[in-house]
Amino acid sequence: MCGIFAVTKQKNAADTVLNGLKQLEYRGYDSWGVAVVTHNTFAVEKHAGKIGASVHSLPQSTMGFGHTRWATHGGVTDANAHPHLDCTKRIAIVHNGIIENYQELKKSLKKRHTFRSETDTEVLIHVIEENLQKNTFVETVRHAFQRLHGLNAVLVFSAEDHTLVAAKTGSPLILGRTKDSEYLFSSDLASLSTIAEKVRPLEDGEMVVVRNNTVRLYTLSGKKKTLKLATADALFSSQKVDKGGYAHFMLKEMHEQPRVIRHIAESAQQKNTTELVAHIKHAERGVFVGCGSAYYASLAGTALFAHFAQKQWSAVQGNEYHAISPALTKNMTALCISQSGETIDVVEPAKDMKKRGMHVDALVNVMGSALSRLADTTIPLTAGPEICVASTKALTAMISHLIVLASAVGRKCVYGQGILKKAEKSIETLLTPQYYKRYLAPVIPLLAKQKNMFYIGRGFSYPTALESALKMKEIAYIHAEGFAGGELKHGMIALIEKGTPCVVFAPDDAEYDAVVANAMEIRARGGVMIGISSKPNSTFDIFLPVGDAQEATLLPHIVVGQLLAYYTAVRLGRDIDKPRNLAKSVTVK
Ligand code: G6P
Repeated sequence: MCGIFAVTKQKNAADTVLNGLKQLEYRGYDSWGVAVVTHNTFAVEKHAGKIGASVHSLPQSTMGFGHTRWATHGGVTDANAHPHLDCTKRIAIVHNGIIENYQELKKSLKKRHTFRSETDTEVLIHVIEENLQKNTFVETVRHAFQRLHGLNAVLVFSAEDHTLVAAKTGSPLILGRTKDSEYLFSSDLASLSTIAEKVRPLEDGEMVVVRNNTVRLYTLSGKKKTLKLATADALFSSQKVDKGGYAHFMLKEMHEQPRVIRHIAESAQQKNTTELVAHIKHAERGVFVGCGSAYYASLAGTALFAHFAQKQWSAVQGNEYHAISPALTKNMTALCISQSGETIDVVEPAKDMKKRGMHVDALVNVMGSALSRLADTTIPLTAGPEICVASTKALTAMISHLIVLASAVGRKCVYGQGILKKAEKSIETLLTPQYYKRYLAPVIPLLAKQKNMFYIGRGFSYPTALESALKMKEIAYIHAEGFAGGELKHGMIALIEKGTPCVVFAPDDAEYDAVVANAMEIRARGGVMIGISSKPNSTFDIFLPVGDAQEATLLPHIVVGQLLAYYTAVRLGRDIDKPRNLAKSVTVK
């Protein structure tokens, strides 16, 4: 999703900014722009589309800033790309978030200002311009920002004053300082890893002013605060982020899963896990909050907690949190799950639950992220940087941690570790070239020609079905739906035609016979059954054998779902690591 990158006191500011933006690409975007301060105004370059191998033609400058835009208000055009300037071209803005009251603000400005874009962002720059005569630049920005509704992060620049103001009520924004005392801003911690020596993620309600290379921190109400930057190493992962010889980040990240799962199994007794186990044991009830794949991990969590610990937890998609929040009490505990730790629809519920006096814990991959900063206890996923937009190793890491937690609460810690190790071995087999050649390659041409396909599972395999269908949608752009096997007869069966492929997740557990019976119902109507199991069955037209790992079998099954989606997307020539319209880090509501 939208990304901001800025630097002050760099001879080649535009080069640094363009490199910074390239590091933000993985978050997902559809247009971009870079600007530098030059002779009391700005030189700006903006383009719809990807940065790719683009070079800029901007002059040398000591202050530069840029933006990757993921369109919300207004189409994907050069004009709608950020930065935006005021009518006099003396102030400029880059923005993440949504200005919810932009229409109302725009109404009163339209007559006196020329709007060059359809964005909500441009409204703020004209509000600032309108009030600039009455106050200093910094105070004008502060007052104008306070008039905005919604969750926003902005950088506003004055070319005349050579001043930068950063302000935030939502969306990540991190201040960094190089060893040469140059200041940087980015919406992504990882993008600062190679240049910043010290960093300070801004909290909501804070404002930073950089002028003459001095930096000051304030609250949005104008109170001065002490600014302490932390050593960057403490927050950055030391792992190198490259494809490591794989064709795509997704393929590399899928191959990292056995190692990630083994590490989680081996470090199951860590301090934060013990703390979280205590919270879960003492809580009356609990709720998981997550979005996308993390929501499916949450659903798996409800089944795992019930099975191992006889704990009744519910799962809610972060964006639907408002529907359940009236029933929350302070005796409940929450586990917020997020790879990025920045998904606004998870961060906002976490804040609200803290206000209600609940215990709020988190499973997060990016330490230093908003969620990890505000949770009472955070368990790091330790999956390493995940670059492909579609989540793979972070999701299986989430479920592995949930297996550790559930089995520890149910006093079956060693058993939990044991089944994770079985899952690791089973996944290793799935990732071999032999498995691809013998089992996956023959089925891909069938999948690649489909308009629709279905996935079914029961119990632990229900989230597996949902997640596998999501992967197929995300990267192959094939309409795929996941269902609980028992729901078949309540609608989905009407869509089965001769030749419709349906993937059946059938672990060797108490639900095996029932899900095979569901598969028979589909087959009787012409569906082509692709059975994923350790146990063959005559109902399966195509059988993909997967080693059993007891309750952790959902992990290798999810990996089969990932592989089917990946190779189908490769065959269709899709942009695997950066699928169309999707963003890695969803920082707007
Ligand atoms: C986006 C990504 C998904 C991810 C979801 C939640 O939609 O494309 O892959 O599952 O956000 O992200 P989070 O960082 O909170 O896990």
